[in-house]
Amino acid sequence: MGAVTSTWTEPENTPLALLLLGQGTDPASERGVDCPGDLPAPSDPDLVARATAAKAALGDRVFVLGHHYQRDEVIQFADVTGDSFKLAREAAARPAAEFIVFCGVHFMAESADILTGPAQKVVLPDLAAGCSMADMAVLGQVEAAWDEFTDLGIAGDVVPVTYMNSSADIKGFVGRNGGVVCTSSNAKRALTWAFEQGQKVFFLPDQHLGRNTAVLDMGFSLDDCVLWDPHKPHGGLTPEQLRDAKMILWRGHCSVHGRFTIDSVREVRERVPGVTVLVHPECRHEVVRAADQVGSTEYIIKALDNAPAGSAWAIGTELNLVRRLALAHPDKQIMFLDRTVCYCSTMNRIDLPHLVWSLEELVAGRVPNQITVDEDTAKYARVALDQMLALP
Ligand code: 13P
Ligand code: SF4
Repeated sequence: MGAVTSTWTEPENTPLALLLLGQGTDPASERGVDCPGDLPAPSDPDLVARATAAKAALGDRVFVLGHHYQRDEVIQFADVTGDSFKLAREAAARPAAEFIVFCGVHFMAESADILTGPAQKVVLPDLAAGCSMADMAVLGQVEAAWDEFTDLGIAGDVVPVTYMNSSADIKGFVGRNGGVVCTSSNAKRALTWAFEQGQKVFFLPDQHLGRNTAVLDMGFSLDDCVLWDPHKPHGGLTPEQLRDAKMILWRGHCSVHGRFTIDSVREVRERVPGVTVLVHPECRHEVVRAADQVGSTEYIIKALDNAPAGSAWAIGTELNLVRRLALAHPDKQIMFLDRTVCYCSTMNRIDLPHLVWSLEELVAGRVPNQITVDEDTAKYARVALDQMLALP
């Protein structure tokens, strides 16, 4: 990525409501309630045998999906592993499976429900497995911003684009307003398409993926990007700023990838001469610029598969994935970019006790923690998802 020339600085954090994980429902959050049944103890020595037996009893009726950031104890039971896009497609490609057990987070299970048939049931083993980034864009806030664009006379020029990591109702909003969903692997294609449809893009909810793609892949400058803060009047922007902007970025970020700093990059370069720094595009702009390569989880996996023996890599993404990659490539030096542990706490909510519990409930004829998206939301979210699938 070359020398760091950016003048962009990370704004101070916006105060967010702290959600208590556990019992109860927060209708304003992507997360819901905790497991209502008898959860096996994590110390139960029979958990692996119980999961194996329950899966065998269900046979082809169940299909277990595992995101790359899931724990080893869960990944071992996944029929397929992948990023959120691949897993949604895998779910859609299994019409014979009555139950899709989604070992990932809530927005992924919602996308699976939208893309699967009406008879298929999607189960999230722990409903507290949300995504803090997805929670940062709430439909009412997004509609309020859109109303302001309308009052300003610019809404007709704006194409909304949402990252896959958003709730179904945000995807529905985007579908209703002529936009598209994107993932970390097709963001450039989605933005190229969006700029063919309009003059400006309203990018939700990850400011970093939006900024990194616009500046590093599309040739825009940092000054072409403005940050809409839903907690400030008029997003904290003047009408002129909104009129002049090419990219209106929602003020959201990933709490996991946001932790990597430019100091982590400097430190690893000093410690390991010749290291290649490879980071996910959810990292801050300055970190991505200081890195050697940037790419989605699938890109990172392929890059390490193709790397020569003896090469050294510092990876800026979630720790479960980096740890598994290091174990899978003992001939390469693969390390975590930062010295501090960096798991995604909500991905980690899905553990073996929750998986055993949900599989055994299915065996007993009960469907636990089913994720359903209402018909109207699903219809428009599917428009935005189908538009993504149709990208050239
Ligand atoms: P991808 O797996 O699509 O790269 O996304 C990363 C992520 O943060 C998922 O929550
Ligand atoms: Fe959300 Fe980040 Fe966790 Fe992915 S890694 S689920 S974007 S908080």
